[in-house]
Amino acid sequence: MICSALIRVAHEGLCLVRKATHVCRFHQHRAWGSKPVASEFAARGAPGIVVELLGKSYPQDDHTNLTQKVLSKVGRNLHNQEQHPLWLIKERVKEHFYSHYVGRSGTPLFSVYDQLSPVVTTWQNFDSLLIPGDHPSRKKGDNYYLNRTHMLRAHTSAHQWDLLHAGLDAFLVVGDVYRRDQIDSQHYPVFHQLEGVRLFSKHELFAGVKDGESLQLFEQSFRSAHKQETHTMEAMKLVEFDLKQVLTKLVSHLFGDELEVRWVDCYFPFTHPSFEMEINFHGEWLEVLGCGVMEQRLVNSAGAHDQIGWAFGLGLERLAMILYDIPDIRLFWSEDERFLKQFHVSDINQRVKFQPLSKYPAVLNDISFWLPSENYTENDFYDLVRTIGGDLVEKVELIDKFEHPKTHRTSHCYRITYRHMERTLSQKEVNSVHQAVQQAAVQLLGVEGRF
Ligand code: PHE
Repeated sequence: MICSALIRVAHEGLCLVRKATHVCRFHQHRAWGSKPVASEFAARGAPGIVVELLGKSYPQDDHTNLTQKVLSKVGRNLHNQEQHPLWLIKERVKEHFYSHYVGRSGTPLFSVYDQLSPVVTTWQNFDSLLIPGDHPSRKKGDNYYLNRTHMLRAHTSAHQWDLLHAGLDAFLVVGDVYRRDQIDSQHYPVFHQLEGVRLFSKHELFAGVKDGESLQLFEQSFRSAHKQETHTMEAMKLVEFDLKQVLTKLVSHLFGDELEVRWVDCYFPFTHPSFEMEINFHGEWLEVLGCGVMEQRLVNSAGAHDQIGWAFGLGLERLAMILYDIPDIRLFWSEDERFLKQFHVSDINQRVKFQPLSKYPAVLNDISFWLPSENYTENDFYDLVRTIGGDLVEKVELIDKFEHPKTHRTSHCYRITYRHMERTLSQKEVNSVHQAVQQAAVQLLGVEGRF
């Protein structure tokens, strides 16, 4: 979701860095689009039943909304799979931070955490980041909850507080994050983020540790323009300056110097001021990360009272899709050698241009039904289609909405685009999946079919 204007922010409440571009598991050795069955759809909130995940059990309750399909991604850890494109980007970012930001003793300033469990508490995902209890980003329809207290992290920011509390002042976190969303070539319910956090003591900041000249210049122009500002305001400006400089250097390392970037004001409950960075890609401005100066209340509550800092979170799929020209987010999950071997490079900085696998024709099927009188969200249906249809489903779109003038019941019509990544699908094959979707929608969502 892009957050390009405050109006939009007020409406949506929270910008989420995803877009392309927004997970042991029982490692699935499934080919693209092998047919999953209706029983894969998780029982919702059945009392007395527990969800088993990464060796722990979580009792289900009325918040439980995980699907087997999504559970099956937990533990895949694409960002830790050597030579995977997401791993390649992670390694390039690590290398950049390790070589550019070193402490006095010559050791890297930033430590890297890429094995933290994606199961977090709702406190970690929301409260620790000052996200209010009634904030729309907590909606069941947008997140994967194990139960009322635990969920699959919706962003890597969920680890900020713990790592600060542990006493760290410069770190990167890389991991899989989960959000319920529409299905198309740019969105997948699991994607990967890389988070960066850096704290400074005020002394460190004003000493102009790095790039002293530009910091000083900046400080001077700032002082003359805002004579009345407090020391803290100045410190915040310096942090903002450092943040933007660090991120500009990072993306020009990744993309090359010719890249054009711009900053867009934004809103996150845990940073102020907040920004998104957009990069100009073939004339189109694309959002690649969210960032800002950390809210002091957060930093203080984690025990780092006399420090001030910045944080950023970038979407790895989005960067990889731009960098390597990858057209479809589902490809990241492919175990097809024709995809993976294109990224087997001896030097992580070597340029890779992805050669697309041939495109086979799509099969479109529509489905219409009357919604139940309550408890229906569109994302329930998107999840269900994804669960039943697996990676055969390229896209699901709501193409018609209708309210009956007399009964006031609402009917939705969705168009499902089925496409196999590696062969032509037959109508017969698609029909059987489509029928399974119809049946499951009736049984699990309580809709009344108009099939
Ligand atoms: N967690 C935010 C998101 O997912 C991104 C972010 C990280 C913003 C750190 C500010 C600071 O959208």
